[in-house]
Parts: sequence; structure tokens; C-alpha cells
Amino acid sequence: MDKRELEGIARSLVETNKGILAADESTPTIGKRFDSIGVASTPENRIGYRECLFTAEGAGDWISGVILFDETLRQSLSDGRSVPQALRDANIVPGIKVDAGAKALAGHPGEKVTEGLDGLRGRLAEYHDLGARFAKWRAVITIGDGIPSAACIDVNAHALARYAALTQEAGMVPIVEPEVLMDGDHTLERCERVTTETLRAVFEALATQGVHLEGMLLKPNMVISGTTCPVQADVETVAAATVRCLRRTVPSAVPGIVFLSGGQSDELATAHLSAMNALGTPPWELSFSYGRALQTPALRAWAGSMANQAAAAAAFLHRARCNGAARTGSYTAAMEAEFATA
Ligand code: 13P
Repeated sequence: MDKRELEGIARSLVETNKGILAADESTPTIGKRFDSIGVASTPENRIGYRECLFTAEGAGDWISGVILFDETLRQSLSDGRSVPQALRDANIVPGIKVDAGAKALAGHPGEKVTEGLDGLRGRLAEYHDLGARFAKWRAVITIGDGIPSAACIDVNAHALARYAALTQEAGMVPIVEPEVLMDGDHTLERCERVTTETLRAVFEALATQGVHLEGMLLKPNMVISGTTCPVQADVETVAAATVRCLRRTVPSAVPGIVFLSGGQSDELATAHLSAMNALGTPPWELSFSYGRALQTPALRAWAGSMANQAAAAAAFLHRARCNGAARTGSYTAAMEAEFATA
């Protein structure tokens, strides 16, 4: 492991005004996204849609890295370039999802543990050869009646730390993603308590496994009200609670925090990030690693036809530009209207 190289990659992923595009939907997940627009999920459609995003002119001004799924890392664009090459040409770092998904946790109904550690060292070496320079592993924590259990938090923290150590050994930056789901009727306060407990466990496990904090990124949920909670906290409350929770749990040696959007609407995810960055100077870069919140309008504009490539690219660039502005706390709702009338 070359620590200086890892630190350089991590810092470049959270460069000012830039963030990460999560385009690493597994084949079943992208299938669900395509179902929502009535499009068949074939390998050709999957790379066609993603080509709209990866080749959007100027994306590299706001997008520092793209997380890919295994299939996509091995595909080529219509001009024959491999996906990692096309991303490098756009000044974007290729990354790869390396977990094998969240599976039912034995003995703990309603809870999950993320699998994929077996054989991971070999897969990481291959991904590095294919051009990936960072990786992602997502753990899922569910809030419900009597959950999360200590067992669920513990096994997921342990797996995240083992993944992170192996990823650094392979010369790639690990994105450590413990996602506390927003599903449920819990309050923002409960989300804050569970997120705090989860992050404490994750950083303890990272320390135990000897992970180099300066060469990793954290990808957490924001502290928000559960989707069906009757009281929905406003943007300022979410921003303050999220930054407070992170200040209490995330060492300042970590260069950046790149939020997931988790099912928030695209505009709300941008507004939350902007409000956090407007609060002052936190010890880490506060950035984005959004999937749905960067892609939903682009997916609709594409609608399964490459004749709509330019419209899909424009919709994606708009969200990338808004989130780029959120990096400095300078996003305003007026930016949305500018795009609608453009
Ligand atoms: P969302 O922003 O859609 O939550 O996706 C981010 C991600 O990578 C989830 O693992």
C-alpha cells in the first residue's frame, strides 16, 4: 500500500465543486429503474443509458469519480473505448462496487449483513488491473421495532473494516458506506441516535483493522426523518443534525464525507448538502456520491432511446452542476428554474 498515493486519490475525489456519481446499480437494481420507465434491461440498453452519463460534455467539471458495477467496468462505449478509458479521458476516476449485496442476517429477522469478503483480494487485484482506483461496499442498517440490534451493527462494521483494509492493500481508496435506511416512521432524533451508534462502531472497527483514515472516504446517510414519519424535519434541521452527528463520530483525518441520497428527491438531496456546507467549515470535505438524486431526471429523459442522448446528458449535467454548487453552499432553488426554461 502506497499511503501517499491513496491520500492523493481520496483528495481528488472530493476536490472543490466536485462529487461522485454512483452508477453501480447491480443488474437487478438497474432492472427496477428501467421497469419504472418501461424499458427492457438488456446489456445494450444498460451501457447505452450509462454512455449518456459518462460522455456528457463537461461532466468532469462537477464529477470527480464514477462508481461502476462489474458488468459496466468491462463494457465499451459505441466509439469502441472501454468505460474506464472514456472516464479517464473525461478526467473522471473509475471506481467499482465490490460487495455482493445485503443478505438476511441469521437469527435476526428484518436485518441484513453485506456479503462479499470471500475471494475479495483476488477480485480487487483484477479491478485494479482493469483501471479502478477506488471501491465501494454498502452495509444496510434498518430502523424498526427493537432494531437495529447490536449484532447487526457489529457484523456490518466488521465487514466494512475488513473490506477497507483489503481495498487499501490493493492500492485503491475504499468508500465505506454504512447506510441507515430512511424507510419507516421514526423521527429524526431516532435516526441521529442510530447513525451515531453505527458510525462509532464503524470507526472502532476501522481502527482495529488498521485502516489508513487519510486514504478512505465515508459514505453515510444524512440524519433525516423516516419516510413515513408524520413530522418531516426541514432542511436547516437536517443539516444541523447531520453535521453534529458527524462531528461527534468521524475523525478529522478522514478527508471527505460523500453522502448517499437514499431515496430523497433530487432537489432535496441538493438542498440538504448545500445547507450543510453553508454552516461553516467542517473538518472534512462534505460532498455527494448520489445515485438516484443525480440520475432520475436523466433516466426519464433517455426513456430507452439513444435519440434522446443529448436530453439525458443535459438533465444529468444540470443535477451535477446544482450539486457542484451545493459543495460551496451556493445552491439556490432559482438554479432549478434556470434549467427548466433553458
Ligand atoms: P442513492 O444516492 O440512490 O442512495 O445511491 C447511492 C449508492 O451508491 C447506494 O449504495
